[in-house]
Amino acid sequence: MREDPHPDQDAAKSSFLISRRDVMMGSAAVAVAVNTAQPMQAQTIADEAALPVSAEKTCLVQTTINGMAFDIQVDARTSLLDLLRDRLGLTGAKKGCDHGQCGACTVLVDGRRIASCLTFAAKIDGHAVTTIEGLSDDGSLHPMQKAFIDHDALQCGYCTPGQIMAAVACVQEGNATSAERIRESMSGNICRCGAYVGILAAIQDAAVQMRRT
Ligand code: FES
Ligand code: FES
Repeated sequence: MREDPHPDQDAAKSSFLISRRDVMMGSAAVAVAVNTAQPMQAQTIADEAALPVSAEKTCLVQTTINGMAFDIQVDARTSLLDLLRDRLGLTGAKKGCDHGQCGACTVLVDGRRIASCLTFAAKIDGHAVTTIEGLSDDGSLHPMQKAFIDHDALQCGYCTPGQIMAAVACVQEGNATSAERIRESMSGNICRCGAYVGILAAIQDAAVQMRRT
């Protein structure tokens, strides 16, 4: 049986269909819903009923995702990306290549960026995950989200959640000190629309804002 931890999930999803700007705002709305409607408490997510997995192939994962504690029984073969998208309804992280080559699935684990498609869900036991839905927690966009809008750093938007999470890590790692260094740091995130000029400008802009906060 699946327990949906996000009662506003459908509303958030429908906002994704409106426009790219609404995508960004929708992410913030989801974050607010998560952090205000549901206080920090452990939620037990039941096993995937549809999958014929024997008990010895499952494991209990105790983790924090976007500030919310979860106890989740998972198939040991499940990727973090599939756990986020298919079980928890956090569809911000995208499945591009599923082979660690495009960066569309980038999330933060304990503040470090990882390719969630290459990470077993079991590996996040005891760790804190942040996805694009949890980037803003005060009702306003994260400076990086705002900068992506201001610099029109997206076209189709498919790569954007991964780009933003990687960009936040890029700044926090101290790699946003020059255009060359940003390009190198962001080289694992591919944009098939070629929005790289806007992405670079957004990161340079947001880096200034993030250093002030
Ligand atoms: S989907 Fe994970 S790197 Fe492409
Ligand atoms: S905006 Fe379309 S893939 Fe990057």
